[in-house]
Amino acid sequence: MPILFDDERCTWALRSSGATYGLAVDEEGRLRHLYFGPPLPRLEDLARTDEISSPLGREHFFPWESPTGPNARYEYPEWGGMYYHEPCFKATLDDGVRDVRLVYEGHDTVGDEGTPELAITLRDPHYPLRIHLHFRLFEELDLLERYAVVENTGQEPITLEQVLSAAWHLPRGRDYRLTHLAGRFAAETQIQRENVSLGKKVLESRRGNTSHHANPFFAVDRGAATEDDGEVWFGALGWSGNWKIVVEHDAWGSLQVSGGINDFDFAWHLEGGETFETPSFVGGYTQGGFGQASRNLHRYARKHVLPHEGPRPVLYNSWEATYFDINEEVQGSLAEKAASLGVELFVVDDGWFGERNDDRRGLGDWWVNQEKFPRGLGPLIEKVHSLGMSFGLWVEPEMVNPDSDLYREHPDWVYHFPNRPRTESRNQLVLNLAKEEVRNHLFSVMDRLLTENQISFIKWDMNRPLSEPGWPEAPRERQREVWVRHTRGVYEILEGLRQRHPEVAFESCASGGGRVDLGILRYTDQVWTSDNTDPFDRLMIQEGCSMAYPARAMMCWVADPGFWAKNRTTSISYRFHSAMMGSLGIGTNLLKWSEEELEEAGKLVRRYKQVRDIVQEGDQYRLLSPREGETTAVQYVSEDMRTSVIFVFRNPHQFLDPSPTIYPRGLKEDSIYRVTVLEAPRSGEALMGRGIQVPLEGDLTSAMIELTQV
Ligand code: GLA
Repeated sequence: MPILFDDERCTWALRSSGATYGLAVDEEGRLRHLYFGPPLPRLEDLARTDEISSPLGREHFFPWESPTGPNARYEYPEWGGMYYHEPCFKATLDDGVRDVRLVYEGHDTVGDEGTPELAITLRDPHYPLRIHLHFRLFEELDLLERYAVVENTGQEPITLEQVLSAAWHLPRGRDYRLTHLAGRFAAETQIQRENVSLGKKVLESRRGNTSHHANPFFAVDRGAATEDDGEVWFGALGWSGNWKIVVEHDAWGSLQVSGGINDFDFAWHLEGGETFETPSFVGGYTQGGFGQASRNLHRYARKHVLPHEGPRPVLYNSWEATYFDINEEVQGSLAEKAASLGVELFVVDDGWFGERNDDRRGLGDWWVNQEKFPRGLGPLIEKVHSLGMSFGLWVEPEMVNPDSDLYREHPDWVYHFPNRPRTESRNQLVLNLAKEEVRNHLFSVMDRLLTENQISFIKWDMNRPLSEPGWPEAPRERQREVWVRHTRGVYEILEGLRQRHPEVAFESCASGGGRVDLGILRYTDQVWTSDNTDPFDRLMIQEGCSMAYPARAMMCWVADPGFWAKNRTTSISYRFHSAMMGSLGIGTNLLKWSEEELEEAGKLVRRYKQVRDIVQEGDQYRLLSPREGETTAVQYVSEDMRTSVIFVFRNPHQFLDPSPTIYPRGLKEDSIYRVTVLEAPRSGEALMGRGIQVPLEGDLTSAMIELTQV
């Protein structure tokens, strides 16, 4: 049984193939965390709640040290009593009381085979407040998906001031190390690794989207884990609005990682009878190092999060080729070239609508520009179809330029405060999705676009964060709900569109990778990883992205060299190999390519299609990091371990380093594999043990190695 319950001790053990998670109710009725670590076969092996009260034992308790601090390890700590650490829950009750107490009320086990779910209900002993904690176990992946539902069971409203999704407790210890992702525009998801010192480290976004600057992912290890080995506790939050993850380490050695919707500028007015549901925070434990942590998250995303199954088509996007200067004829010519390379999905980017001749006007006016497409989009779409490709379109529905018909008609539809400026970024303002009329308008405009045109793919962009998040018409007590309502509004529109147009796939973009998280991936099939399409810079951006997100969802383009990294020239094959490590796209002006270049590109597209299933559906191994040394190598292995592909790159040359030896992973030891760069086949054991010498010379060169079981 994956979920064990001991009635007498009121203790649960959630057991997956490589981990056990334990929790229990203590004699005061409080829900306490017991354990998250290597598998424990017996429920009796879990500590009792009275053993975890204080590092020195109960009798040594010092009254001036909070008895309810993180050493007490409340499963879902509420702010009340002597609790001074990061709470999951803080509220003002109907009579103004701001102290919350939660005790155990009952539990239920539901869910499907392989993914059973435990729901534990806590209640306030005095006030009409319940919190339902959900634990969905992914037995094969050693992952636990957690979320909370707050229920106001009374008549009077309650003000929620902090409602996180979950807190994870690590074993008391020292020398922990934190791995997280930070960055900026054109340099998203850069891996950060640092020692956890005493105090709090807050990873967060206050921008209204996930943000380029931090990503809601964490991994904590005991200081020495590697890609292949060592204990790692990790997690990722499914939320695309303001979020925070707090890593809190105290001098008693406790370490708590809490996360969820950011409480900054947040308040939620919960009427009697209403509920508030948090986004989910998935967490896991592995002894297989950072690589295994990522592979578990990848499988989870592929099998339980992403809306469509199966690999993504090869895409062409016209943005870097034509920017705003688009029309039916040029797009048609690009489509012909793209089709000749084997592209399967042709996407028209920004500039097709309204008066959108540059980024100063037009956003909000989602009608086809008559000068650029006098016959509408229909003839271009037909042409794209006749070339054997499907058709996709760029939109940015949450935004409006002040120079647009929509804004002239509805200046009150954007977030704003009276007597304050409306700060523009990229000449645009953000529509207030907390307003139902705005959501309805956007839904019907997008629905019409998809109904009237044969569109298979939408690139949904968001090119600025929120500012002056005012909603002046709303009652005072609801005004801070905008942050959450905006994100829920985006989800709601996407969900509605998906229901009406289930065959359409979506890409989440926000000036590159500003909205990449497990929340948006429930509604979109892929993300735009970064506007930076330099193939070497991308190795680092993609490596960081792969910590949490699967290759299938990671859109990568082959682009023209020398733009993002000035004057850096790279070969066509290097650019392709870099982009083949995710979902392949081409974003260059193919009209300028020579016949030879087009022929080479066509061959590489064909090779990609041969290995696409392995890349997009297989397990990923980061063999050599672009952040260390002269070589980058990333391997993908099919789930049945019969086929594999490795991409190898020489980073900018230094110090006469010799050709690299690559040690593959994830092969069957006693199977024999044919390897494209070796003459004789070799056993999996030999390949993984002896490695493969890759004959790769020269600055920024690359190779693609295929392994096939014979
Ligand atoms: C953002 C996106 C780009 C492109 C432009 C269009 O910057 O990240 O890929 O779509 O908007 O304006």
